[in-house]
Amino acid sequence: MSRTICRNSEEIPRELLDCLERAGKVAVLTGAGVSAESGIPTFREAHTGIWARFDPMQLASPEAFEQDPATVWDWYQWRRELIARSRPNAGHYALAELQGLVTELVTITQNVDGFHALAGSSGVLELHGNIQRDVCSRTGRTIDPDWIEAHREQRPPPSPHHAEGLARPDVVWFGEALDPGTLDAAFAAAGICDVVITAGTSGAVQPAASIPVAALQAGAVMIDINPEENELSRMARWHLAGPSATWLPALVGELGRNRG
Ligand code: OAD
Repeated sequence: MSRTICRNSEEIPRELLDCLERAGKVAVLTGAGVSAESGIPTFREAHTGIWARFDPMQLASPEAFEQDPATVWDWYQWRRELIARSRPNAGHYALAELQGLVTELVTITQNVDGFHALAGSSGVLELHGNIQRDVCSRTGRTIDPDWIEAHREQRPPPSPHHAEGLARPDVVWFGEALDPGTLDAAFAAAGICDVVITAGTSGAVQPAASIPVAALQAGAVMIDINPEENELSRMARWHLAGPSATWLPALVGELGRNRG
């Protein structure tokens, strides 16, 4: 099927809307670009991306935490505080609204900011964890926020679950496996959806990038939302070229009007 690139969110192709209207099951995979308009930097964009300024292996790997837990903790505290000061944007809210317009919408995200749930989406599959939670570095058990608060002078705080454990953010680091249950649920949703939407992701990180590919292979129609072109946009039936905080509300608004 040939690809259509759309640049004007005020002129959504009729065929795309028909396709979404007919779709019973929809799966969405989001990435850092969806939170860009909330003021959270993406990872891979030249100059502004987090990985343009910091070395991931020095900050987001088990080895880095082993070698210098204080630096890793401080860096995550900085990101946490930025996220805590920020809010979901119109794209997050539109996806939450979309859940009420289709039979089933599974939201799968690589983002750790928790903004989809904050905007009202339910059952969000957080592939890379959630930065606002802490777990024990030895046992993986969740640590109560009150414990962290009571030990915040220590960087990182100790773990209440293991004598040699430390608190660490509940995120997936480079070299670590994703939670198998979350990953299975994401691939299951991809395998049965009629439409898969990818939004704000470079598609550079596995296994997340394979989720829309699995949906395509199972016969889904793909819509990609991204100001830039990448491998995923080239696979999509429609590439909506522009920011997700513009395209998602435009799509959902139009769908809602047609339904109403
Ligand atoms: P990337 O930083 O790799 O890609 C962000 C994408 O968002 C790029 O393709 C941008 O073009 C696009 N983008 C920028 N602004 C946008 C906007 N306003 N609207 C829509 N799209 C926009 O981020 P991810 O694909 O999420 O993993 O990266 C995946 C994973 O790599 C992250 O979860 C993180 C990182 O290393 C871990 O930390 C494990």
